[in-house]
Amino acid sequence: MITLNINGKDAQVDVDADTPLLWVLRDTLNLTGTKYGCGMALCGACTVHLEGEAIRSCVTPVSAIGTKKITTIEGLSADRSHPVQQAWIELDVPQCGYCQSGQIMSAAALLAQTPLPSDGQIDAAMAGNICRCGTYQRIRAAIHRAAQLKSGG
Ligand code: FES
Ligand code: FES
Repeated sequence: MITLNINGKDAQVDVDADTPLLWVLRDTLNLTGTKYGCGMALCGACTVHLEGEAIRSCVTPVSAIGTKKITTIEGLSADRSHPVQQAWIELDVPQCGYCQSGQIMSAAALLAQTPLPSDGQIDAAMAGNICRCGTYQRIRAAIHRAAQLKSGG
């Protein structure tokens, strides 16, 4: 048994130590908001937070996590009130939606470290999150909007 702290609660999972976190989230714990895209750290669809940092859960074995806190899209807020979620809704960012939980988790991690990012900082932080639908312009605008909301604007 491995104990993982996910979205503020401990979860015990009976999986091999080398199982990728993404598999545990989706298949064992039914937290299906985190998506499988490539399985090779190339697309960002599987992005979650580990101690607040954006990581690719598809290449993170559960054995590497220990007591660090995991946050998934389900745990970002209880009621979509996180500024990034609010901005995403306000600017109607998603198209098909598949990449968007990963985009939101990367954006939230960026804003936690850089409250007012420049376009260049946004592009650098989001470079690993691919969107087949090409929503990049709206993503960038929504991150600026989320920064405003976060600062009370
Ligand atoms: S599924 Fe993890 S980066 Fe693509
Ligand atoms: S919204 Fe379709 S892949 Fe990004």
